[in-house]
Amino acid sequence: GYTGTDNPNHVYPIFDRMMSRADKEELLHQKGLMVWFTGLSGSGKSTIAIALERELHKRGLLCRILDGDNIRSGINNNLGFSAADRVENIRRIAEVGKLFVDTGVITLAAFISPNNDIRKMAASIIGEDDFMEVYVSTPIEECERRDVKGLYAKARKGEIANFTGISAPFEAPEHPALSLDTSVLTLEESVNQLLEIILPKIRK
Ligand code: PPS
Repeated sequence: GYTGTDNPNHVYPIFDRMMSRADKEELLHQKGLMVWFTGLSGSGKSTIAIALERELHKRGLLCRILDGDNIRSGINNNLGFSAADRVENIRRIAEVGKLFVDTGVITLAAFISPNNDIRKMAASIIGEDDFMEVYVSTPIEECERRDVKGLYAKARKGEIANFTGISAPFEAPEHPALSLDTSVLTLEESVNQLLEIILPKIRK
């Protein structure tokens, strides 16, 4: 066979490739997956992702949450909320998410991702087979009633332009793997429904 001696750039032909995703999944005893939460601001995406991560971690499963707190403040701190910036926001998140999934990590992304095109882009970057769409379907009336960050009040007063659900569109997903309305379900119920569909996909 090839000894590597005739090509100075490939002296060690067997050892010069990165470890594969399968190698990493073997190491971690789990399969990589992207769980993609979509829904209005204040619908409960991050809260559910955080509780889910805790339950998966307890079961020995390694997760990574991507949300506004660690993405919009860092890698995407030059992006706002115009339609074009939201596309670029989600594109970068999907590319970063793909790196985690390819490392065998269960990746939980919690972004409004307000329309079908933007979510389709994310799914195609990550790969359809590794992409599970979860719609946090809490009605806008409930999100606005909670108004955790006071942003709905500001948006109503016209102090925030392009606010999703008020002055910018939100398109509900057509065929999510799961819909969770946090005005009806407890956090525990939402997490249990997620575990039921996720655990069979990530066990190795
Ligand atoms: S998107 O549409 O996917 O790019 O949005 P995302 O990265 O998830 O960021 C949404 C959070 O940013 C805050 N915020 C706004 N949201 C919507 N529209 C406007 N104009 C806006 N300005 C700031 C808001 O806190 C969102 O909150 P959560 O609850 O985390 O989704």
